[in-house]
Amino acid sequence: MSLRDHPFLKACRGEPAPYTPVWLMRQAGRYMPEYRALRERCDFLSLCTNPELAAEVTITAVRRLEVDAAIIFADILLPLIPMGVGLHYAAGGGPTIERPLRAAADLERLAPVDPATSLGFVADAIRIVRRELPDRPLIGFAGAPFTLASYLIEGGSSRDYRRTKTLMYREPAAWHRLMEMLAQITADYLAMQAAAGADAVQLFDSWVGALSPADYRRFVMPYSRAALAALAGRVPTIHFGTGTAGLLEAMREAGGDVIGLDWRVDLAEAWARLGPGVAVQGNLDPMVLFADRDELRRQVRAILDRAAGRPGHIFNLGHGILPQTPVDNVIAMVEMVHEMSRR
Ligand code: CP3
Repeated sequence: MSLRDHPFLKACRGEPAPYTPVWLMRQAGRYMPEYRALRERCDFLSLCTNPELAAEVTITAVRRLEVDAAIIFADILLPLIPMGVGLHYAAGGGPTIERPLRAAADLERLAPVDPATSLGFVADAIRIVRRELPDRPLIGFAGAPFTLASYLIEGGSSRDYRRTKTLMYREPAAWHRLMEMLAQITADYLAMQAAAGADAVQLFDSWVGALSPADYRRFVMPYSRAALAALAGRVPTIHFGTGTAGLLEAMREAGGDVIGLDWRVDLAEAWARLGPGVAVQGNLDPMVLFADRDELRRQVRAILDRAAGRPGHIFNLGHGILPQTPVDNVIAMVEMVHEMSRR
């Protein structure tokens, strides 16, 4: 079978597949003992920037779970390193940025980013995985301009995006300049990953659900569209966000061959709203992986029922796996999807 005919890539193109392909956001991570063992010897950024280790983490997760796609081990915030804002990952905590953007003038000190030179380690890791896993589709990814901007401005994670929205409303010219810059970096970074051998790419707009539909269209959509358009005709694109029940039509307009759904929407209703000609990915609540097997089976079946075997469904969680998730349940879930969806 050529890689092009893999059920995952067929589903990305909206073609019928012999079973529903499945992978999981954050499928390589702290819930896995192999990952924790490696992290005892190596901090997170060293892991991301070492192509052999990043490839090993990617491949271990695929072999352990038997998922239908690998996702390159990296982080959406890596392009912030060459920008020179002082990105750190606190042990056990989230990312922090030492010198966040707080005003228009701060934009001047952002160093220009050429992914080919400063993020080449990701391309190297992709080439290793492509060689070692020749029969498994490999997903590349990047953060979307809004989600990246929110980290740059807030200096870390945020509950209300107060600083981000303040800059957006009070200094719209600076906002648009920043978003244009981030869209260009994201487009170049994703194109580099596709050129290195990624078979599909996912744009993570994890926090975009914080916006009203009107603000999404005005302040974000042109930039997500530009980042996705750069991949058109190269590899399929997956456009993902959370809390996006009010934004689905607009996200579809922005682009993506596949739209990622979180668990707060009904898959069939969301797909109907998106309209024909687009695939969907999702949308099990990651918390269901803490349930017993009967409940897990019921919930997996419910999602497959909502998709009803229509071409173009990729099974996934509605957001990333949590660190406390029992590995056995994850393995069982992947098996369930394969077994229940075979046609
Ligand atoms: O999916 C995969 O297996 C590939 C690897 C991957 C990571 N981060 C590894 C990671 C991917 C696709 C991401 C995306 C990412 N990173 C997003 C978008 C997806 C989402 O969850 O919404 C975001 C917002 C980030 C930023 C980020 N990186 C945060 C908020 C954190 C800390 C919180 C957390 O969950 O740990 C990270 C760190 C991070 N990224 C870890 C991993 C495995 C944990 C680091 C560690 O080992 O301590």
